[in-house]
This record gives sequence, structure tokens and C-alpha cells, in this order.
Amino acid sequence: MNMVELIEKKKNKQALTKEEIDQWIDDYCHDLIPDYQVSSLLMAIVLNGMNDEEIFNLTDAMLHSGKILDLSKIIGVKCDKHSTGGVGDKTSLALCPMVASLGVKVAKMSGRGLGFTGGTIDKLESIPGMRVVLTPEQFINNVNEIGMAIIGQSDELVVADKKLYALRDVTGTVDSIPLIASSIMSKKLAAGSDCILLDVKYGNGAFMHTKEAAIRLAETMVRIGERFDKDVRAEITSMNQPLGYAIGNILEVKEAVNTLRGNGPKDFVDLCLSSGATMLLQARISKTREEAIEKLKETIANGKALATFRQFVIAQGGDVSYIDDLDKFPQAMYIHEVKSLKSGYISHIDTMGLGMISMQLGAGREKKSDLIDPTAGIVLSKKLGDKVAKGDVLLTIYTEHPNTSELISESLNAFDFSNDEVTVPKVVEALVSYDRNTKEFIITEE
Ligand code: URA
Repeated sequence: MNMVELIEKKKNKQALTKEEIDQWIDDYCHDLIPDYQVSSLLMAIVLNGMNDEEIFNLTDAMLHSGKILDLSKIIGVKCDKHSTGGVGDKTSLALCPMVASLGVKVAKMSGRGLGFTGGTIDKLESIPGMRVVLTPEQFINNVNEIGMAIIGQSDELVVADKKLYALRDVTGTVDSIPLIASSIMSKKLAAGSDCILLDVKYGNGAFMHTKEAAIRLAETMVRIGERFDKDVRAEITSMNQPLGYAIGNILEVKEAVNTLRGNGPKDFVDLCLSSGATMLLQARISKTREEAIEKLKETIANGKALATFRQFVIAQGGDVSYIDDLDKFPQAMYIHEVKSLKSGYISHIDTMGLGMISMQLGAGREKKSDLIDPTAGIVLSKKLGDKVAKGDVLLTIYTEHPNTSELISESLNAFDFSNDEVTVPKVVEALVSYDRNTKEFIITEE
């Protein structure tokens, strides 16, 4: 294969064949093509796109670049969920025990946070003792016994994505629907579940800035799932403000546990109920959305979801006394309340901006090798649509850094105000699924 010819082909908007894609991915994984040629091809894909057949072939080539998990020893329907990433997104921590307590089997691999987005694995590791590496036997046994296990991405799965993602990250080639869809779906397919629920976020704190782009990404991933004979459904959710109030690892664990205790923020609870209902339908545990939502509310009210979370923490070596007494978690050295200089209704929140500030406070990493501070982050006091008087606390920052005056002024700039009341958008805006009989996408507006 001549890599220059492939680059020229994509530059001229021609489709790549299955053989060309297979060879490109295989050669790159074996270090037979230099990064500069691959980044040139990636940029041509960003600019000229790929058709459905190319996206399917790219996903397939990436999927087969490493091991594929065999979850056949897990009894029951295995459901995975994946979020395209956002600010304050602690959904897996609450949603997985909710659905697992109702019989869904959740065998999940999660990632670490990078840049403005957080990662489930960092959040879990903020619980003292918690292990995110298990042997395949432990992983399968825990799912069979408790209903859930969450571990870090294995280096042996989708080898191509590790190399490609690292290259995309430094060559401005992340924001491409074919590349994002093949990256996410190859990992989800390699992780071996029967059903996959995708949370495709859009807004000023997400990779996709518009709802239309999020729907296109969702349809692309649902179509890939269909070709692989998996039940893949996607939610289109708003990331025009952080999810819940907490951003940062320990702060988010506390919010997730409080949600399992029945005291969750409304937008976060709404998302967990909607995602949970889709997963219960996918696992055929519920027949209707309404019935599923009732079951999910009940598992929180009767303490079963929290009990499942406790069992999960214990099974992965975590000290459950921190879950029972959230005040045991260490607190950041510096805690500053940030007060509003303006009054009015909050009309806009720069979500990515708050994610970046939280990262700079120590909650996230700029580079993969950076260490994170589990105590650092932000807790909002006000959200979109809330009425604020001058002097009201907008947010509280938690950090080990003594000099944060610049970050405090930046955090104030993240809010816009209006004199008129503001309508708060719903968190879940639409559901995308595929009807095998009509071969059409169904987009249900929530
Ligand atoms: N998340 C992924 O796993 N891959 C992408 O390309 C973007 C977000």
C-alpha cells in the first residue's frame, strides 16, 4: 500500500476501500507508517469525511487491532453505557448501580479525564483503596455476583485507538464524526456487551457544539451498532451547563452517593432516570419507559441502588466507610466562595470554561502524565435560570493552590445574566434508535 496515494485519494474526496483501511490500520499499529503521514490522512478525513461503508470498515479494522472481550460467562443481558464527555459528568457512578440493582449486567471499561472533561476512573480512584484493574476472572465474577464492575481501559483492546487518539489530540483532528464514531464504537464493541447506551452531549461544554451535529454523530454510531448486530441507542443531552452542581473527583463522588441516597440534583436525577429507563428496555427488564422509570425511582427509595454501589466499592477494594460517611473524605486546603458581582437570571454558563478552571485548580490533567488532586474542583450554588442577587455565592472553589485570584475572576466571567426570566433547557433532549423493520432512525424528542 502506498500511503501517499491514500492521502491523495482522501484529499480528492474519494472513498477508501476496505483493503486500504485494513492495511493502513494494521501498518500503523506495527509502526510501519510515520505519524506525519497518518496525521495528514486524518486531516483529509476531518475535512472531507467518510461514507457509511468507510466508517464501518474503519471501526471494524480498529476493533480487530486488539483483543475482543468474551463476556459469555456473564449470565444475563450485558449493557454498557458511554458518554462522549462533559463537565461534572458523574453519571456512571449513580446509573450503573441503579440499573445493576434491577438486574442489568454492567461490565464497564471507563477512561481517565483529559482537558476539560473528567473521567470515571479518576473519580473512582478518589475513593481510598479502590482498584480499577481486575483480572478477567474477578471482573466477570463481580458482574455475576453484584451486577456491575468498572475497570480502566485495557491496553490490549483496540490498540489502534490508543495510537490514533494520541495523534489526533496533538494534530487538531479530534472533531470529526467518522473519527469520533469509529473510536468510540470500536472500544464499545471490543468491550463485549450486548447492548450499548450512548450519551451524546452537545453544547458549550462538549465536543459537538450543536444538537444537529450530536444527532448526526448519534445516528452514525447507532448505524455502526446495527451493522454489528448490537442494540445501540443514543441520547442527545445538553452540556450547556455542568451536570449537577459538583465538578471534580471527590466532589462528584459525594454528589453521586447523595443521588443514590435520594438527594440528587434535578438535572442529574433526570438524566439517570432517562438513561436507566433506556437500559432497562434494552435489557428487556421493563416493557415500557414509564414502568422502567418507576422501578428506578423505587431502587433509590428502597436503598437497593446504594447497597449495590457499596458492594461494588467493597469488591474492588475501596474503603466503604467513606461512602457511609462522606465527611471522611479529605477536603482541599483552600476553599473560596465566589460571589456574584451582578444580579439577574443566569442566561448562559461557559461550561467548557468552568471545566478548564476546575482542571487548573488541580481536578484534571492538561497532559496524560499530569497528576490530579482528588480534592480539587468547583461546586456551583447557582445554575441556568436561577435568580441571583449581587453578593450571592455563585460557586465555591476547592484547591491546594494558594494563588487563585485569576481563576476566581475567570469563574465570574463564565456567567451571563438577563433581566428577564430564562427558560431552562431539558437535560435529555432526544433519543435516537434504529427500527430494523423500516430501516429508519427513530428520533424521539423528549
Ligand atoms: N471519545 C473517544 O473515545 N474518542 C473520540 O474520538 C472522542 C471522544
